[in-house]
Amino acid sequence: MKPVRKAVLPVAGLGTRVLPGAKTTPKEMLNIVDRPILSYIIAEGRAAGIEHFIFVTGRGKQAIEDYFDHHIEMEAQLAAKGKTDILEAVLADLPKPGEMSFVRQMSPQGLGHAVWCARDIVGDEPFAVMLPDMLMHAERAPLAQAIDAYNQVGGNVVVVEPAPEGETNKYGIVALDGREGRLNRMTGMVEKPPLGTEPSNLFISGRYILQPEIFNLLSDQAKGAGGEIQLTDAMVRLMALEPFHALEYEGTTYDCGDKIGLLRANVAYALQHPELGQAARAAITALL
Ligand code: G1P
Repeated sequence: MKPVRKAVLPVAGLGTRVLPGAKTTPKEMLNIVDRPILSYIIAEGRAAGIEHFIFVTGRGKQAIEDYFDHHIEMEAQLAAKGKTDILEAVLADLPKPGEMSFVRQMSPQGLGHAVWCARDIVGDEPFAVMLPDMLMHAERAPLAQAIDAYNQVGGNVVVVEPAPEGETNKYGIVALDGREGRLNRMTGMVEKPPLGTEPSNLFISGRYILQPEIFNLLSDQAKGAGGEIQLTDAMVRLMALEPFHALEYEGTTYDCGDKIGLLRANVAYALQHPELGQAARAAITALL
């Protein structure tokens, strides 16, 4: 079985649900306590053994590339002033040479189209997709849990979790061949099913392990829900050729593409922060 070495991060989205905050700052760069969302996502990927991150970006997203590069002046100043702890924090997220690639999705045509834009950089090997909106907190990195599952069953693996009551129509929903334990064979998938037609309450929450055959299917994938080229629709076609498993990972998900989700993530990560946790608890309690 080929190892999962590369991860595709679709970051071209406008962040409509977190405007105007995301007007000039890409939504993936919004802060959670003391770091941008993407910093946590990259840490999760590295903890899962990812060697190469492929960002599918778009106009107005230059801040992402700049964040993952040296800021010579700032670094020189921090060094000159002896602020080594801050300097170390600034340098920690930087990639090794060649660890990151950036490709532009030139018009918003959906998640499936975004992933397809990475086809040449991924090549002929299994790869991960990480949706950076979805911040996942767990003892073992959620993507590592997905890769563990992939190493066990092969094929394609999709991380899922129960959708909030009455919200299955906002997500990709999976159908399972029985539900026993956390890893189950899938029999179907549907993107944003009308309420009452969902095959289960389990939604695709943002981490995937996919085989490269998905790219051929994406190349002629018809538009689906919302008039967009949906990754879910291409995965349904791939399921006729290769097995898919759904993994209910262990951990907590925060949808940072949403104002309240972003707030929840900030509060939760602040309370768990090794240095700021106590002060955060006092500050939050004082507000109640
Ligand atoms: C995308 C996927 C969907 C998934 C969701 C998770 O939808 O198409 O299957 O459940 O992300 O956030 P979007 O949020 O782009 O509409």
